[in-house]
Amino acid sequence: MDQIAPFIIFLLAAVSKTLASSILDGARLGMRQVDFGGNFTKDELFARSACRSSRLSLDFRSSEYMIDLSIGTPPQLISGLADTGSDLIWAQCKPEQPTGYDPNKSETVYNLPCNSNECLHAPNRVPDGCCLYDIIYGTGSAQGYIISDTFRLGDDNPVSIPNMTFGCTFSSSLPNLANFTGIIGLSRSEYSLIRQLGIDKFSYCLDTDVNTVKPMFLGSAAILDGPLVQSTPLLVFPEQSFFYHVNVTGISLGSELLPIPQYLFQFNPSNHSGGVIIDSGTPITRLVPQAFDIVSQALVKLVNLPIVDDPSKKLCFSLPSGSKMPSMPDMIFHFDGGDFKWTMDKYMSSKNGSVFCLLILKPPGEFTISVIGTIQMQNIHVLYDLKNNLLSFSPAEFDKL
Ligand SMILES: *[C@@H]1O[C@H](CO)[C@@H](O)[C@H](O)[C@H]1NC(C)=O
Ligand SMILES: *[C@@H]1O[C@H](CO)[C@@H](O)[C@H](O)[C@H]1NC(C)=O
Ligand SMILES: *[C@@H]1O[C@H](CO)[C@@H](O)[C@H](O)[C@H]1NC(C)=O
Ligand SMILES: *[C@@H]1O[C@H](CO)[C@@H](O)[C@H](O)[C@H]1NC(C)=O
Ligand SMILES: *[C@@H]1O[C@H](CO)[C@@H](O)[C@H](O)[C@H]1NC(C)=O
Ligand SMILES: *[C@@H]1O[C@H](CO)[C@@H](O)[C@H](O)[C@H]1NC(C)=O
Ligand SMILES: *[C@@H]1O[C@H](CO)[C@@H](O)[C@H](O)[C@H]1NC(C)=O
Repeated sequence: MDQIAPFIIFLLAAVSKTLASSILDGARLGMRQVDFGGNFTKDELFARSACRSSRLSLDFRSSEYMIDLSIGTPPQLISGLADTGSDLIWAQCKPEQPTGYDPNKSETVYNLPCNSNECLHAPNRVPDGCCLYDIIYGTGSAQGYIISDTFRLGDDNPVSIPNMTFGCTFSSSLPNLANFTGIIGLSRSEYSLIRQLGIDKFSYCLDTDVNTVKPMFLGSAAILDGPLVQSTPLLVFPEQSFFYHVNVTGISLGSELLPIPQYLFQFNPSNHSGGVIIDSGTPITRLVPQAFDIVSQALVKLVNLPIVDDPSKKLCFSLPSGSKMPSMPDMIFHFDGGDFKWTMDKYMSSKNGSVFCLLILKPPGEFTISVIGTIQMQNIHVLYDLKNNLLSFSPAEFDKL
């Protein structure tokens, strides 16, 4: 999920952690889809996401991934949305959230003083509120306070990491349908899991099978090689340093480069608009309105079928009864240094027998940047190299992971 970024520059190293450093180097974490174990058919999954979307005016499908970890002593299990688009790790907390983490039951919890670095520099801190945060995401918001406790994570050999800084959320308007009890921020911020663990690279590959656990690799375990690997720089903007910005130079439909002006994909520091981020917490790719319109127009010309009015403002076409979806060319996202090729099934989807829709949306109200979401990243192994500021990707070879 992308969060609305405060217009503040975080230059201070707010959370300094040396102990956790590299304990988890080489570890492998499991990521589960939110509907894991739900035994839903593909259509049901669609219906569930459509349901989430109508409640939230932002589209969801079953393409959110969770990481399980334990907090406290004795450990309490939290399933958090794996989110490269946000900073903070947080858990729903008792007593307000009955299924959440209970700090009173932990022997290793520390309440942080108001004047601690962790509190003073907390992401989306409430001014004058000791350690309080109020984060607005694309789909809702979360309010809570920053505390510290021991985490246990890692699949093969869980390790304990003392004094992790995270949020205890007492109130949130995020959808309750998804089965997560927190958010695991994986951004470049000092507060993210990645930075607190002292990890300088990580990788994951998401597949479409609801009932398998997808691997996420940390540190030296995150390796991507072979002839199909492509790389593009991760752009670092001091004004918005926690997002994973990438340099998209254009979009093609088949061999036709669409006439999208370059500036629409360039980040504008003066008003935080433009730019493209890669986000494991957003299911469906979103393009800023002008770019979205150009892609839509190209598809309308190509498909030549009646357009259906869609309540969630998606671009949908109606199919004459008994006919199949027309075959369509690949959509190619051109990056500085490589191309992402999406076959038709990654960007068009059949809603029911008679309607099919474009799997790309416009950003909701206040959001002015484009986001590459998880549906379009499925079956691609993605490596975030924070040290070298490089994003690498390659078709996933699940059998080899
Ligand atoms: C969500 O969690 C509840 C309680 O653990 C469980 O009964 C339900 O089946 C889960 N839903 C999904 C979609 O996994
Ligand atoms: C999953 O659903 C299918 C079809 O409804 C059913 O046949 C199967 O027994 C279910 N599996 C589990 C593990 O509940
Ligand atoms: C934890 O204990 C404090 C102080 O006794 C109390 O105010 C608070 O409500 C308790 N929290 C929970 C989750 O029970
Ligand atoms: C965790 O933080 C507390 C409070 O600042 C401190 O007393 C304790 O020594 C720390 N523990 C570790 C293992 O760093
Ligand atoms: C941001 O600023 C640029 C250049 O000044 C302008 O073209 C653009 O429309 C602005 N975007 C928003 C969302 O205000
Ligand atoms: C994005 O890539 C283009 C093409 O390689 C390059 O000209 C441009 O300078 C890059 N933009 C940034 C911000 O690096
Ligand atoms: C398919 O979806 C469209 C638009 O939501 C609806 O009008 C139509 O009745 C649906 N068709 C079937 C066969 O469910």
